Amino acid sequence: NSPLRLGLAGLGTVGASLARLIEAKSETLANRVGRPIEVAAVSARDRTKDRGIDTTGLAWFDDPVALASEAEIDVFVELIGGAEGPAHDAVKAALGRGIPVVTANKALLAHHGVALARLAARKGTEILFEAAVAGGIPIIKTMREGLSGNSVSRVYGILNGTCNYMLTRMEAEGIAFDDCLADAQRLGYAEADPTFDIGGFDAAHKLAILTSLAFGCEIDLDSVFIEGISAVTNDDIAAAAELGYRIKLLAVAQRTETGIEQRVHPTMIPSSSAMAQVNGVTNAVAVDTDLLGSILLAGPGAGGEATASAVLSDIMDVAGGVLPPTLGLPPAKLAPYKRARMRAH
Ligand code: HSE
Repeated sequence: NSPLRLGLAGLGTVGASLARLIEAKSETLANRVGRPIEVAAVSARDRTKDRGIDTTGLAWFDDPVALASEAEIDVFVELIGGAEGPAHDAVKAALGRGIPVVTANKALLAHHGVALARLAARKGTEILFEAAVAGGIPIIKTMREGLSGNSVSRVYGILNGTCNYMLTRMEAEGIAFDDCLADAQRLGYAEADPTFDIGGFDAAHKLAILTSLAFGCEIDLDSVFIEGISAVTNDDIAAAAELGYRIKLLAVAQRTETGIEQRVHPTMIPSSSAMAQVNGVTNAVAVDTDLLGSILLAGPGAGGEATASAVLSDIMDVAGGVLPPTLGLPPAKLAPYKRARMRAH
């Protein structure tokens, strides 16, 4: 079968992880979707940097818009980031050609998601964004597929890995705010401009996307109340702990009598609650629905491989996703079931 050719724009933490994963797991992925998946073209600012990827045979573009407009590709994967500029222009160019887009860009979607989804529909293609919300947690597919028959009354959680990593270390180790932020940046969790993380904007972008899926409304970032963690001190965290609380940057969207309320702010939550146990870069999303009561999904919210995992799941959806005739993944060798022998005493 013909390979699925990817145009990969952006070779930062996530882009480089994705390229490495596609190479390392090529056989497994091909078996699962029935055709090879290959990176055919890339764009990145620095061609010379060693990213642990074999770049021979790849078409290189300096400009992501040129990649999206001209390259012979089947899917455009946007991992540049930023609501405006090259990421926005390149996504529009790919969709304009009828090429499906996979993106992790929550800022882009929060600002232009509705217009981009309309453009995709007009061109008979789609824009997929599992990686845009809560990193590796498959919350978009869960909302769209698993909860499709439910009515959601509230969706809330910890949507920024950088802030949760910082708050966790500030509490557990008493480390200063700036040192925690520097570590989060070094580990590849933070945005290019970390103000987006600590200012609460990144969580707000993600919340606005979740709200749209949960309540069937258009994305409206302007109606999100946003307060970040910049003013939270080690003393605040210690005082909350003494009272039996933890401070988390919580993002909440809920149905109220006057409409859907959306807010992001530091919140004191009881230390014994499940949400308070979510530590480090882990994100968690709770969804309250009419049929299920409440479900909670937790997992890595940032970082190269975790985010690449979500990007990959979208790419595999585009690739066809015709699974072998088993109940799921390709046949693995099953160990024979051994019946425990009953002994008469
Ligand atoms: N900077 C983001 C975070 C990356 O820390 O959660 C994942 O979207």
